Amino acid sequence: MIKACIFDLDGVIVDTAHYHFLAWKRLAAEMGITLTERENERLKGVSRMRSLEIILELGGLAKSEHEKELLANKKNSWFVDFVERMAPEEIFPGVPSLLGSLKEKGYRIGLASSSKNAKTVIQLLKIEGLFDVVVDGTMIVNSKPHPEIFLLAASKLGLHPSSCLVFEDAESGVEAALAAGMKCVGVGSHEQLHKANLVIPATGEFQLADLLELETV
Ligand code: BG6
Ligand code: MG
Repeated sequence: MIKACIFDLDGVIVDTAHYHFLAWKRLAAEMGITLTERENERLKGVSRMRSLEIILELGGLAKSEHEKELLANKKNSWFVDFVERMAPEEIFPGVPSLLGSLKEKGYRIGLASSSKNAKTVIQLLKIEGLFDVVVDGTMIVNSKPHPEIFLLAASKLGLHPSSCLVFEDAESGVEAALAAGMKCVGVGSHEQLHKANLVIPATGEFQLADLLELETV
């Protein structure tokens, strides 16, 4: 039986995945690398440093640890600039009401984001009160597709992983949820997220009936 819903943040609750892309694209361009939306799919869900390493691999570039730190910090400062100008309207449509109605039905709500900026984002958007538990990139060693983040969220919720349903927009996130022994709703394209138990185009389109159906698969 599903007792909790655990949400990824970037690209599931709010459109910050787009800001990550813009910032990485700018950094890549400075290094003479063109980062396409397709390649960007590989950066979703993984840590800041892993994202940078993927970009460097794409460009065939090698950098020292110190240079990588500087590059990752630069990208992060651009990302934070975007986030600080974000308005509550950038929360995806239907998301606050979905979380509210899940809560009303007695489901616990968790947030599990690889981002070290997750707490800042939910505070700026004034939605931190929607979550019973928040796990972010500062609290884990292994980022998605490793299941660590979801297992930590389940343990903080005091629930067995099999009682948790994850919402994810990243292929690495879907893999992490399944590896944690959880069911997963993919938010985005079927082509990218076909391993998920259900794929929906937008978080706000999820219905309680979908949840009951997922309990039977
Ligand atoms: C994930 C994003 O939520 O957080 C990734 O999908 C991002 O694209 C990762 O790289 C780390 O984020 P941050 O804010 O710690 O750089
Ligand atoms: Mg995401």
